[in-house]
Formats: sequence, C-alpha cells, structure tokens
Amino acid sequence: MKDILTIAMPKGRIFEDAVGLLRKAGYQLPPEFVDSRKLIIEVPEESFRFILAKPMDVTAYVEHGVADLGIAGKDVMLEEEREVYEVLDLQISRCHLAVAGLPGVEMNDIAPKIATKYPNVASSYFREQGEQVEIIKLNGSVELAPLIGLADRIVDIVSTGHTLKENGLVELERIFDITSRLIVNPVSYRLKDKPIDDIVERLAHVVST
Ligand code: PRP
Repeated sequence: MKDILTIAMPKGRIFEDAVGLLRKAGYQLPPEFVDSRKLIIEVPEESFRFILAKPMDVTAYVEHGVADLGIAGKDVMLEEEREVYEVLDLQISRCHLAVAGLPGVEMNDIAPKIATKYPNVASSYFREQGEQVEIIKLNGSVELAPLIGLADRIVDIVSTGHTLKENGLVELERIFDITSRLIVNPVSYRLKDKPIDDIVERLAHVVST
C-alpha cells in the first residue's frame, strides 16, 4: 500500500497558486477543492491528505510532524525559524517584505515604533541597521498603524502595492523578496523518502518549465 502523505496548505492567497501548481504537476485534485470550507481534504486517488492551515502556522504543522510536507512563504520561514527542510522554491505567490510609512514623515528619534505581523524579522532588520525600535505585533491590517498614530513605520508584505497606495502610504525600504517554498519534515523525509522525492521531482519539473 502506498504511504499517505499529509500536506499542509496555506489558506488564503497562496492556496490557489499552490493548487494550480499541483494540478500542473499532474495531480488529480477534486474540482471543489478551491471552494471548500473543509480543513482536512482526503484525496485517496493520489494518496494525499491535505490540511488547510493559516499561512503563518504551516511550518508548525510540518515541524511537529503532523504534516509530512507543507507550502510556506519565505516570509513565514524566516519569521518562524522552524526545524524543517526547505526542498524547493516553487516560484509562486511572488511578493516582497518592505518598510513603509507616510510620505515625508520622519521616524521618531526616540524609540520609533514599527507595526508588523513579523516581529522577529523586523527586529533583526532594524538591529542590523543599527536602529533601536519598538516592535508592535499586529495580526493584520497593518497599514492602519501609521494612519492612526500607532506606529511610525510598518514592516509588511507588498504584492501589487494597492494596499499601500489606497492608504496613502509609500514603500521606503525593500527587505527581501518572497516566494513560496515546499518544506518537509526531516523524519518524514527519512521514512517516506520515495513518495516525497516523487512529488519534489514532479513539482521541480513544473517550476523549471
Ligand atoms: C497582505 C499584506 C498587505 C497586503 C499587500 O495582507 O499584509 O496588507 O496583503 O498586498 P497588495 O500589495 O497586493 O495590496 P492580507 O491581504 O493577507 O491581509 P491582512 O491585512 O489581514 O494580513
């Protein structure tokens, strides 16, 4: 009997890109896959079980071994620093992390405040720049913070740039580029190396064409 692979998928904007890539690689996923509200989707024909997680939690599921594989943004990998193998850059959901703020507004000299969903990445970035900042961790709608005086700057994802523009904010510094990665639990990689190698190969082929 074939090993079942559990794959942690990020709900939200990466999900459709990831499903598209798996389909391109020849995996038969049910048509209702994208619209379903189910959190666990079994695809016995492919020996897959998908779990649909919050993007920021995918690396946790994979590190703890409840998922063999996962798809996670480079932003999440760097923020979470989990013990997982990054085996393939899937080149999907391209965006970048940036510092943004209101145009023409200087950072407060004494303890400037930075609002972000990425407290670890943001603190290391400002530490490397030699700037002492106070990090305010938010869970979303980060662009609000400078508009209402909660923070001097934000560190957040920029994809199309529409959210910044529509809120009168500007990008000030680009921190790093982001794409989604295929990640693997180290123990799963030892125990289920064959089926995992197979999926890595098939996805690598699609990514390179
Ligand atoms: C992300 C990010 C920005 C926005 C950037 O938020 O945090 O707010 O997308 O995308 P854009 O450059 O294409 O406008 P998301 O939509 O995931 O929601 P959130 O604010 O709840 O985190």
